[in-house]
Parts: sequence; C-alpha cells; structure tokens
Amino acid sequence: MKLQLYVPDGRYEPWIEGFAEALPEAQCLKWEESQGEAADYAVVWRPPVAMLRGRQDLRAVFNLGAGVDGILRLRDEDPDALPAGVPIVRLDDAGMAAQMAEYVTAAVLRYFRKLDAYDAQERAGTWKFLKPHRRADFTIGVMGIGTLGAHIARTLAGFGFPVRGWSRSAKAVDGVESFHGEDGQRAFLDGLHVLVNVLPLTAETEDIIDTGLLYRLARGAYVINVARGPHLVEDDLLAAVREGQIAGATLDVFRTEPLPADHPFWQEPRITITPHISALTLREDSIAQIAGKIRALAEGKPIAGVVDLQRGY
Ligand code: NAP
Ligand code: GLV
Repeated sequence: MKLQLYVPDGRYEPWIEGFAEALPEAQCLKWEESQGEAADYAVVWRPPVAMLRGRQDLRAVFNLGAGVDGILRLRDEDPDALPAGVPIVRLDDAGMAAQMAEYVTAAVLRYFRKLDAYDAQERAGTWKFLKPHRRADFTIGVMGIGTLGAHIARTLAGFGFPVRGWSRSAKAVDGVESFHGEDGQRAFLDGLHVLVNVLPLTAETEDIIDTGLLYRLARGAYVINVARGPHLVEDDLLAAVREGQIAGATLDVFRTEPLPADHPFWQEPRITITPHISALTLREDSIAQIAGKIRALAEGKPIAGVVDLQRGY
C-alpha cells in the first residue's frame, strides 16, 4: 500500500516515521519525490493544485485538519482539481476539540473577569474594584455546533454561562439553547455578549461576520474567531471596535496569514492576535485516526468525516 504525503512546511520525517509505525504495511512517499506515481491514499494539508487533479488511482484523500477549504478551494483555480468520486476525509477531532475548548474558555474568562482592565490597572499601580459582569447576562453564542463547536459550547455551559448554538440542521446539545438555519440566525444573535465562530468556510459562511451581524450583538460584546479569516469582514470589525459596539476581539485566523506587519489589527489594543494555534493538528492522534480509517476502508467498513462536496464541509 502506498501513501503519498504533502505537508507545506516540508517537515516530512516525523510523519513518515509515524505512519511507518502505525501502518507498517504502507510505503509513505513525499509528494515532491513521487509525482506521477500511483498511490492508494493521499494525506495532505493545503496541497498544490497539481497533486489531486485526475487522480483516479487514489482510494481516498485524508486532510490533515478539520477544515477542508484548503482542498475544496483548489476548484477555484481549476474546476477539475479534485478527483471525481474519490472521498475527501477530514480530521474528526483528533485532539482538537479539547484545544479549542481551552482556547475559547481562556478568552471568555479573560473578558468575563475583566482581566485586561486589571492588567492595565496593575501597570498603573492602581488598586481598584471593578464592577463584575453578571454571569446570567453574559450570554455566549457558538456559531457552528459540529465536532469542535459542540465541545466548546458544552464546556462553556459547564461554567454556568447561558450558551446558545447555531448550526445548519437542528441540534440538541445538553445545556445549550439551539438555533438553526437562516431563520434561526436572528434569534441566535440577538443580544449575545460573546460570539464564538467555529463554522467551516463555505460560500454561505464567507464574510458572515459583518457590520449587520456585529450590530445584532449586545452593545460592548466580544468576538472570538477560531474558524477562518474570510468569515470576518476585517474593516467592519475594526469600525465596530472603534465605535464601541464591540469591546474586544480575540482572533486566531486571518484573511492573510501570517498577518501582515502593517495590518491595523496589530495597532488595536482591543484586538488580541494569535497565529492560528487555537487547535493544532496533533501528529500522533491524527496518524492514529487516519491509520484506523485506512484499515476500516480495507475491510469495507464505513468511516466518519467524509466531506460532502456540495455542502462544502
Ligand atoms: P464540523 O464538525 O463540520 O461542524 C461544522 C458546524 O458548522 C456544523 O454544526 C454545521 O451545521 C455548521 N454549519 C456549516 N455551515 C453552516 C451554515 N451555513 N449555517 C449554519 N451552520 C453551519 O466542523 P468542525 O470540526 O467543528 O470544525 C469547524 C471549523 O473550525 C473547521 O472547518 C475549520 O475551519 C476550523 N478550525 C480551525 C482551527 C484553528 O486552529 N483555528 C482548527 C481546527 C478547525 P450542521 O451540524 O447542521 O451540519
Ligand atoms: C486548522 O485550521 C484545521 O482546520 O484543522
């Protein structure tokens, strides 16, 4: 069995060693050194357009992340970029849900407990009580109640916050008030104190966080974007922060990554920036999940995480 691997940072060795251990029967090849050769599976993160086009030799393409926009958007460059009928399989949690819950909870608690304001007071040598937020008023909305969003929502509900969730189809998550579809979006957003975005990037969700959405939230709300940069209309967020509608934002993803040095977000103290680290692909967990799915496919069993190309996630 042959696996063909593409990782954009070129650090192949730990992946090749990991697959050799998890799937000793497989030969793991670097894409750059095996172009033109047939393989059984491709394992990729943001592959070049030439890698998958016409690849009827492949039985499946495994994406080394939860979001598949880096693969599906190859079709913008070339409508035939994806091999017809070959399933594309995303990582399904593989250790990301716990990381996401930690990251989002840290940001929410920082806002809820006014830690930025206390930091500023400390720097000024000021000892002063600040009126706390009321937990019952600090309603958090999670956009995207899938593998990651459901875990984030449950974790926040565990702190006693009122939590809402929004998805495409109806969902039931313990402790979470659920809304779905375009019809449910308005009621989901109205008066939220914190908006967490963990949607996949699709034609329907691109630019979703714009002025109209931001002004549905409570005055002085917070925005946490851990999904993809193009969900957010960056100028709309900046304007809403400067005008006071949005009190602060924690952004892990950006339209251009790395965030350019002259981007105005760097100069805005109410915007917190992290370099796309809210949920890292964990190599051991990911290899174990992919190896398990390859074995299941070999036995003719169904696997989770197959992407619906029409839906876009
Ligand atoms: P998932 O399991 O596919 O869940 C996606 C959720 O979004 C589902 O609840 C889905 O609704 C909902 N959704 C999709 N389109 C919608 C629409 N038009 N309107 C309303 N709801 C919609 O995905 P996941 O594993 O949770 O991952 C979510 C995203 O997180 C990924 O696509 C990726 O972009 C991002 N991510 C970022 C990082 C990072 O480090 N920053 C790491 C991992 C993932 P249904 O349930 O009804 O289908
Ligand atoms: C990372 O951004 C992922 O989609 O897994």
